[in-house]
Order: sequence, then C-alpha cells, then structure tokens
Amino acid sequence: MRHVLSLLELSREEILALLDEAAALKAEGRKRQRKLPLAGRVLGMVFEKPSLRTRVSFQTAMAQLGGASVFLAGSEVGLGSRESIPDFARVMSQYVDAVVLRTFQHATVETFAAYCTCPVINGLSDTYHPCQALGDLLTMREVFGDIRGRTLAFVGDGNNVARSVAVGCGKLGVRFVLSAPDAYGFDAAFLDAYRQQVPRGELALVCDPAQAVCDADVIYTDVWTSMGQEGECEQRRRSFANYQVNAELLAKAPAHARVMHCLPAHRGEEITGDVLEGERSVVFQQAGNRLHAQKALLQAMLR
Ligand code: CP
Ligand code: NVA
Repeated sequence: MRHVLSLLELSREEILALLDEAAALKAEGRKRQRKLPLAGRVLGMVFEKPSLRTRVSFQTAMAQLGGASVFLAGSEVGLGSRESIPDFARVMSQYVDAVVLRTFQHATVETFAAYCTCPVINGLSDTYHPCQALGDLLTMREVFGDIRGRTLAFVGDGNNVARSVAVGCGKLGVRFVLSAPDAYGFDAAFLDAYRQQVPRGELALVCDPAQAVCDADVIYTDVWTSMGQEGECEQRRRSFANYQVNAELLAKAPAHARVMHCLPAHRGEEITGDVLEGERSVVFQQAGNRLHAQKALLQAMLR
C-alpha cells in the first residue's frame, strides 16, 4: 500500500482487510501490543490545522505498536514557505518511515506524496479525510454487522468527510445519500473520480433532509463550516439552517437508525445536544475507533 490520500486508491478487499485487522486489534486490546510490530519505525506528522482525534490517535497507535512519532506544526516548520513542498518531502522521507499530513489544499498532499519516498497518509485535507472514513466503517460494522445494502444519509455539507465516507460506503456496498443545499453538494471533479473508481457505488443527492433520512440506517453529519472556511460562517449558518440533525428529523428516520458525527461538533448548529448525547448516537464509539483503524492502516503500510 503506497499512499492513502482519499480512500479512492484502496480496493474493497483492502478496506475489508483493514477493518478485520482493526476489529482484531481492538478485541485483543493490549495483549497484542507485546508483539510491537513497528518497533524502530517512526511516523512523521505535519499538520497545518488543529487536531485532537487524528493527532492523538496516530501518535498513540505508533506508541502501542512499538514505534515512535514526530509531530511538526506546519506553520512552525514552514511547509511550502520556509521550504518548498518537494524539498520538504525529499528530506523528511529519509528520516521517517511514513508521513501523515493535515493540510488546507489537497494539492499539498499530492505534491508531497509525489516527492516522498515513504508512504503518505492524508490526515485531512480540504478535499478528503480517508482515516475518518475507515474508523466510521469500522463503527458501522460494529453496530450492524454486515453493512452491505445499508443506507447512510449524510445531512450537511458535501465536504472532505462526506467525500471520503461516500467513497468508503460505495466500495463496501453501502448506499450513500447526501442531503445538502444546492450550492453545497458534491463538486463535478469528485463525482467524476467517484464514478471512475467506484463504478458500482450507489450515490444519491436528495435536497430534502426528511426524505434523505426516511430509509436511512445511519444519519451522519459534520460541521457546516470546516477549518479554513471561517469567513463563510454566517452565510453557511443561513444556508444550512434547515439541515440540522435534531429530534424532529430523527423522528422521521427508522427506529433502528444511528447517528454519527466525526467531531468536533457545534451543538445547536449541525446537531442538537440531545441527539448527540442521545441513545441513538454512536459518536464517541466512532471517535474511539479512529485508533484501531489507524493501527491497522499503519501496520499494513509500514510492515
Ligand atoms: N475527526 C477528526 O479528524 O478530528 P480532529 O480534527 O480532532 O483530528
Ligand atoms: N469537515 C471538518 C472535519 C473536521 C474533522 C473540517 O475540515 O474542519
């Protein structure tokens, strides 16, 4: 497995193998850590944006697997300013065994990967968040068992998380429904890539959130304003006002439907506090699963 930038590059079989391994790692807990499969290996991390889950789960994953990690804030090391991205990648990849990048532009991850001689993992760019999707698929398998034929309704922005979750769902036979206002649906470039790489994927765009959730097994949402879009916050609050995941919307979904959110959440905007904390929410289980999914990914990429 060379680079993981979007989830488009992984086959159904590769994703299933990662999820099986993640589930085994989770089940075996700390017993398995004695094997320390990544002893002596080092993960470099360069983050242009803040992070709790991605940063801590990757650093913990490396520690639990016997390796180490080096964290660099993009602004401090001057990725693309003090030093060009190609120079940075060619130097860093001689020191570390893999790199996790969190960037604004997706092109930064692509350029870095093109020059990097070790595997690159996208830890979130403006366009994709593949590690989030892996943890989410693991969570859905824990909740439902076989997820093929299930439906996930993503209510909100057609953003980085939505794109990677859509790809993951498509590869595993889960129907993905995006419910977003007109201007915030998926872009043509993503839809082209999706059609090419996930030809059998079922992807639907349904403006009305009530219609989108009526036969959903999972109702997923994310912030209306992603990192880097803060200047659009007021406009987005107005545009997404009818796309809140609240008790009224949840009442229109099947009783077994579960609620997911990648976190961090803005209670009172894209989701209400009662739904996030409610018995149908699997949000914190979902956050925990980032660790197990990424341990499986690191093992597959570094061993
Ligand atoms: N969900 C997620 O990626 O969280 P962080 O931004 O805290 O890493
Ligand atoms: N869409 C959000 C996800 C955060 C994990 C963002 O990019 O800010």
